[in-house]
Amino acid sequence: MKSTGKVIGIVSNLVTVETNGPVSENEICYINLDGTLLMAEVIKVTGKNASVQVFESTRGLKNGDDVIFEDKMLEATLGPGLLSSVYDGLQNNLTTMEGVFLKRGEYTDPLDHKKLWDYVPLAKPGDKVEASDWLGEVKEGWLPHKIMVPFSFKGEYTVKSVTKAGQYNIDETIAVLTDKDGEDVDVTMTQKWPVKVAIKCYREKPRPNKIMETGVRVIDTLNPIAEGGTGFIPGPFGCGKTVLQHSIAKQGDADVIVMAACGERANEVVEIFTEFPELIDPHTGRHLMDRTTIICNTSNMPVAAREASVYTAMTICEYYRAMGLKCLLLADSTSRWAQALREMSNRMEELPGADAFPVDLSAIISNFYSRAGMVVLNNGKTGAITFIGTVSPAGGNLKEPVTESTKKAARCFYGLEQNRADQKRYPAVSPIESYSKYLEYPEIQKYLAETVEADWIEKVNKAKNIIRLGKEAEEQINILGDDGVPMSYHETYWKSELLDFVFLQQDAFDAIDSLCPIKRQKYMLDLILEINDKKFEFDNFEKCRDYFKNMINILRQMNYTEFESENFNNYKEQLTKLLEENGK
Ligand SMILES: Nc1ncnc2c1ncn2[C@@H]1O[C@H](COP(=O)(O)OP(=O)(O)O)[C@@H](O)[C@H]1O
Ligand SMILES: [Mg+2]
Repeated sequence: MKSTGKVIGIVSNLVTVETNGPVSENEICYINLDGTLLMAEVIKVTGKNASVQVFESTRGLKNGDDVIFEDKMLEATLGPGLLSSVYDGLQNNLTTMEGVFLKRGEYTDPLDHKKLWDYVPLAKPGDKVEASDWLGEVKEGWLPHKIMVPFSFKGEYTVKSVTKAGQYNIDETIAVLTDKDGEDVDVTMTQKWPVKVAIKCYREKPRPNKIMETGVRVIDTLNPIAEGGTGFIPGPFGCGKTVLQHSIAKQGDADVIVMAACGERANEVVEIFTEFPELIDPHTGRHLMDRTTIICNTSNMPVAAREASVYTAMTICEYYRAMGLKCLLLADSTSRWAQALREMSNRMEELPGADAFPVDLSAIISNFYSRAGMVVLNNGKTGAITFIGTVSPAGGNLKEPVTESTKKAARCFYGLEQNRADQKRYPAVSPIESYSKYLEYPEIQKYLAETVEADWIEKVNKAKNIIRLGKEAEEQINILGDDGVPMSYHETYWKSELLDFVFLQQDAFDAIDSLCPIKRQKYMLDLILEINDKKFEFDNFEKCRDYFKNMINILRQMNYTEFESENFNNYKEQLTKLLEENGK
C-alpha cells in the first residue's frame, strides 16, 4: 500500500504534506492538482509531516490537494538508447524542440520501447552471475552496449536460459536467472536505478594511472587531468567556462560523454542542442552526438529539477562505466545546482551555513565528486568516469563556499581570469593559479614519462617557470619603465609572452588550432623551450619586442596550419631563418 497525504502548506516549490503512512527521505510523490500530477521529492520528514520539493511550478496548488507517495526514490531509466538523447533532469525526452516546453505534469518516456536492437548473448546457461555482470551486448550506434544483471540484484544468480541472438526491443526478456532460493527472474535490456545512490558494482577503485587527453594545451600539458579524475573550472560570467567545457567535450578522449547543463540560460542550452548534432568526432569521424547524452535544466525551469539533473547525469555515466567504457561527465554550472540547494534549505528555515548555503554543502559536493573515478569491474576490465564541473562564483570571488567546497573535492583546478578574458587571451585559464594534483601521483608521472617523454614533467615545470619569470619582469618594467630596466628583463618578458601567445592561447573556434593532440603539444613546447634557451642580444627594447612579435606571428600561423604539412614546414623554415639572425 502506498502512503498518501494532503497538502497543508506551500512556500513556492516547497510543499508541506500531512501524511497518513510511512514516508522516507528522497521518496518520490505526486501531488494531484486538478487532475494534473506534479512530481515531487521528499526532502525532510518530521513526525507526520513531509517537506517535499516539487519539480515544477506550483502555481494553483492549494491546501487539501491529494498526494500519493511512490515508495521509491527518483530513478533513472537505463538501457540502450540513452546516447544521442537530450533529457531534462527528470529524464523527460527533449530531443524534439517542443520538448523544452513540456506541459506541467507531463512526463515522457526516456527510452524507445519499440526500437529493435541487434542482440548477442555473452553469458550461457549455468554461468554464475551477480549484479552488473554482462549477459549480452547490443550495438548502440557503434559502441558495444552491455546488457547487465540489474544493479539492484543481490547475491549470486545462475543463468537459466539466454535468448538467442536476434532483434529485440528493450522490454523483451533476454535472459532468465535463478536466485539462490530457486526463484526465476526475467532480465530485459532496461533497468532503473535511484540517481542519488552511487552504483557500486565493481571490484575496486584504484587511483587513476593515465591522463585523459582533452586537446586543450593548458590542460594536457600544463595541468593534465587523469582518466577517472576530477577537475573544476571556476570563472566569472563570460570568461569562457562553457566554451572550454565544449572544447573538452568535442575532443576529450572518452567513449561516452554526458553533458549536464544545469540552470544556464535557455538560449545557451538551445545552442548545445543545435550545435552538438552537427559536430564530428575527431577520433572516429562519426557524429559526436552518437556517443553523447545531454541533460539540461535551463534557468526558466524550476530550481528543484537542477539538483536532479546532475545526479541523473552521474548515474548514466556509472551505467556506462560498468560496461567497461571511458565516460566524461561535464556539468555546467554546479553553482546553479548549489543555489538550488540553498533556496530549498532557506525555505525550510534550516540553520544556514556560510553565505546561507546548507551547512553540509561541502559534504554534498564531495560525495558527488567521489562518484567519479576509475574502477576495476568484477570481470577485471576497467571503466572510468572523468568529471569536470564549472563553478560561477558571484563577482569572481573564489573565496565563496561553492568554490571552496569544490576545491576540496576536485583534484584539478582550472581557474579562469577576468583579466585574461578581457585581453581575449583564451582559454583564460590562469597559468599560475591552476594546478593538477595528478602530476604528483607516481603512477601519472610514470605514465607521462612512458607515453610522452622521460623528462616531460621537467619541461612542463620549466614552462611554468617561464611564465612566472615573465610576470616578475613585467612588474619591474611597469614600475621602472621600459628604459629603466636591463635589456634582459625585456627578453624574459617576451619569452613568456611567446609561450602565452603560442601555447597557452588556443582558438576554440578554429578547426585546426582547437584540436591539438599531445604529440603536437609536445612539438610546440619543445620549439618554444628551444627558443627560450637562446640568449639574444638586442640594442634596444623596441627591437626585442618587434623580433619576438615576428616569431609569435610565425608560430601562431603554425598553430592554424595542419601539423607537419608543407605549409607548416615552410613556417618552420621562416622561424629557423629568423633565429639565425638572432635579433641583430
Ligand atoms: N577558447 C576560446 N576561444 C575563442 N573565444 C573564446 C574562447 N573562450 C571563450 N571565448 C569567448 O568568450 C565568450 C564567453 O564564453 P562563455 O564560455 O560563454 O563564458 P561563461 O560560460 O564563462 O559565461 C564566448 O562567446 C567567446 O566569444
Ligand atoms: Mg556559461
